[in-house]
Amino acid sequence: MKNLKRIASLLLAVVLCIGLSAPAMAAVEDTGFSDVSADAWYAGAVQYCVENEWMSGTSATTFEPDSAMSRAMLATVLYREAGSPAVTGSAGFTDVPDGSWYTEPVAWAVQNGVVGGYGDGLFGPDDPVTREQIAAILWRAAGSPDAEAGQDYADENLIAAYAAPAVDWARANGIMSGKENNRFDPQGNATRAEVATILMNGAQEETVEPAPAPDPEPVPAEETEVLVAYFSATGNTENIAEHLQAILDADLYEIVPQEPYTSADLDYTDSDSRSQAEGRDPDARPAISGSMENMEDYEVIFLGYPIWNGQTPRIISTFLESYDFSGKTIVPFCTSGSSGIGSSARNVEGLTSGAIWLDGQRFSGSASRDAVAQWVNGLGLELDQAA
Ligand SMILES: Cc1cc2nc3c(=O)[nH]c(=O)nc-3n(C[C@H](O)[C@H](O)[C@H](O)COP(=O)(O)O)c2cc1C
Repeated sequence: MKNLKRIASLLLAVVLCIGLSAPAMAAVEDTGFSDVSADAWYAGAVQYCVENEWMSGTSATTFEPDSAMSRAMLATVLYREAGSPAVTGSAGFTDVPDGSWYTEPVAWAVQNGVVGGYGDGLFGPDDPVTREQIAAILWRAAGSPDAEAGQDYADENLIAAYAAPAVDWARANGIMSGKENNRFDPQGNATRAEVATILMNGAQEETVEPAPAPDPEPVPAEETEVLVAYFSATGNTENIAEHLQAILDADLYEIVPQEPYTSADLDYTDSDSRSQAEGRDPDARPAISGSMENMEDYEVIFLGYPIWNGQTPRIISTFLESYDFSGKTIVPFCTSGSSGIGSSARNVEGLTSGAIWLDGQRFSGSASRDAVAQWVNGLGLELDQAA
């Protein structure tokens, strides 16, 4: 059991929609795999996991980043990450043969309560790891804590009974985000690239979303004029922006692209997609539909965006170059699958002159209003408090 704490810190550090990169953005010159291009969002994570011998290619030249992670592979990866400790006894599953590459990892994972079997003598080594299974693994690694059920997902009825408390806990603690339309997608699969990213981010100790404060004080801005400006392609950042608007009694401005982003545009697995092409081009400035008439009225601007390949989408650059922010305070915030805010805001500070930038904060798309209020309260901004 002594590895459990380590596994917990490894896994708990991850906020899911799993799989999207962060420090992975460190330049990778050549991954050594023909199917992992150096500019893929997961290239750094793949390289990191391979270098640490936690994961290996599926052949000498391929990694199969988009293949589903099987349960045997996950057990093996966690076992390797734990240092491949000696294992005695077998896991006793009829579908885990003696002497296979995953026999010892599965026995270790089961003996340490990290991954369970199906209860009928089967482990399902070739079955893909689903999102509800990952929630359960994270939850068990954290000691199976109680969590209030909170708001149901739209597909709550599809969540297996054994995983239901784990999913509640993962949501309440901002550890796993839902997907679009308030779905959890319990049977959705995790890919090898996503799991590589989990492992890397966990090892690099990204911070977990803070647990909601019991009774955070609202911080309405009664005199300071506050604007919450945000870009959101799929609604996650918009959730946080709306929390901020309510907490601060602020004005809300959505940065709307003149040409909306389609699903194909947002496909980060396609290096030719619009988002990827814009990301590679430092001069890309996607046009914004409409403009703000009264930017000069605002003293504090909360600026929200989704992390795209570790950075701000280029439309944020368009926004920053569209107005005079001198003398104004800019407070960045972002949502992401798992990446931290990293250098994303710092890298666009230079587009404004004379503005004061505060350190930013990353949230999961489903972060609670309490969690956002707790962050706002800790900013030290001289915003007027509620009476
Ligand atoms: C093109 C693209 C690139 C992305 N890159 C990352 C990334 O590097 N790291 C990450 O954690 N999430 C990444 N994501 C996931 C988004 O940051 C995440 O889903 C975010 O919450 C979306 O916010 P929105 O709904 O406001 O658009 C990416 C998403 C897209 C579409």
